[in-house]
Amino acid sequence: MHIDRHERMWITLSGVLLIVFAVMLGFSSAVLGVRLPGLSDQLLPTAAAGPHDINEGWVRQLAPGRYEVNMRARVWNFNPSEIRIPAGSTVTFYIHSEDIIHGFKIQNTTVSLMIIPGQVAKATYTFTEPGEYLFVCHEYCGAGHHFMSGRVIVEAL
Ligand code: CUA
Repeated sequence: MHIDRHERMWITLSGVLLIVFAVMLGFSSAVLGVRLPGLSDQLLPTAAAGPHDINEGWVRQLAPGRYEVNMRARVWNFNPSEIRIPAGSTVTFYIHSEDIIHGFKIQNTTVSLMIIPGQVAKATYTFTEPGEYLFVCHEYCGAGHHFMSGRVIVEAL
């Protein structure tokens, strides 16, 4: 079968690009640890679901170096908005919204979530480097959207 030279060039280029993208996906997943956020739980408006508490935000130590955060998002703040942990800690965030759709992204980490009303978003991350990690709402949610932030303070051991 005869394939035109230019046609063959584009077919080859398409194939090469597919391979490049597959390698990049594999690298971001296996090496960088990028994970798609999944639905952790459904949240009934009247009751807490699983380890979640709809009435208050908190940080709880489960074991040395293991923390759990129950976070409430609403216009226009996160509760808790300041989380203090020692370096090397693994933190699991459970976040729900009290009103509309918000986002949750922690600077310089792989944590990036959508906070959808009626659902609990979950992400786990190990903070190995000491420092301050800003987290922000990255889904436009109204006039105070750009004020909606907080920080994780990772203290050196
Ligand atoms: Cu909450 Cu933007």
